[in-house]
Amino acid sequence: MTTVQTYTQTAPVFKTVNTSVANKKVKFNDGNQFPIVGLGTWKAKDEDVYYSVKNALDSGYRHIDTAAAYGNEEQIGKAIKDSGIPRKELYITTKLWSNRHHDPVGAIKESLDKLQLDYVDLYLLHWPVFLNPQGTPARVPLLPNGQRDIVLDWSFVKTYSLMHDVHDLGLAKSIGVSNFSVKNMKILLAAPETKITPVVNQVELHPHLPQFALGELCAQHGIKLQAYSPLGSNGSPVLKDETLLTIAEKYGVSPATVVFSWMCRRDVIYLPKSLNKHRLASNLKSVDLSDEDVDAINRIHKTFSKRYNDQDWSPMKPFEEDE
Ligand code: A2P
Repeated sequence: MTTVQTYTQTAPVFKTVNTSVANKKVKFNDGNQFPIVGLGTWKAKDEDVYYSVKNALDSGYRHIDTAAAYGNEEQIGKAIKDSGIPRKELYITTKLWSNRHHDPVGAIKESLDKLQLDYVDLYLLHWPVFLNPQGTPARVPLLPNGQRDIVLDWSFVKTYSLMHDVHDLGLAKSIGVSNFSVKNMKILLAAPETKITPVVNQVELHPHLPQFALGELCAQHGIKLQAYSPLGSNGSPVLKDETLLTIAEKYGVSPATVVFSWMCRRDVIYLPKSLNKHRLASNLKSVDLSDEDVDAINRIHKTFSKRYNDQDWSPMKPFEEDE
């Protein structure tokens, strides 16, 4: 990591600007390491996702996050192949979609085919809810009343235990979960079937939803948090927050850089999305925030807190009892 120190006369602030976190890694509880920053690809399709991945890899990203449900694994596989970057330098995550909880090995093989890979670095249980594999439409089957067609007599503990095979067969170097609340995390960790502690829990996380309670529980088990929608997703008010704007001005960086620097301080892996070459590159920057500024960001959610990706899984409530 290159460090540049500057002193400006107009603003008497001694700034330490880390120009790139592309090579900064976080250590998992299974001994594997992962880059702290990765490219998020949810909602990006076709040419957009191809060029987003291609440009990200050119800018220095080595960690790409996708999921079977995003419908973009093929384009990502092509972009990875076209980049010519050796496989061992890359860190690729994909996720088990909710209609395949009974068959993680079959599902990951399909993902690997699309990605043109022999293994992924990380495989996540995307949601703790099993959708009817025979239902229609296939990806998110619905009941006549419009609710999602959920298999109610099934536990995510069973799904995660089946995911152990994915790991043992070498199809994924590490396994973990996503969208697990404090309550569900406790159930999973207490279950005798859980022989492999998840390495991460990937959740929505940003200053309006800091996930402190979940982070504390996960830390007790050596589980890292991964932040999806770290900027609060398209058009969210996160980047307009007054506290972030003030801190950004003080350090002479963008509010996005302030958010990512706060995540670096917390050792949270973050997965920003961007289709813009300039923003892709700038999202690799971070600054060393003062303790005072970190505290101020930690307090933002006390004034305004919001989950931006709130999906309706009725009658299941994956985030019940959490923030
Ligand atoms: P764009 O693709 O035009 O860069 P999140 O990662 O929280 O889901 O947010 C993604 C959204 O944030 C996208 O709309 C993306 O738009 C935008 N975005 C990504 N990086 C930045 C940045 N550094 N500053 C402002 N907006 C950004």
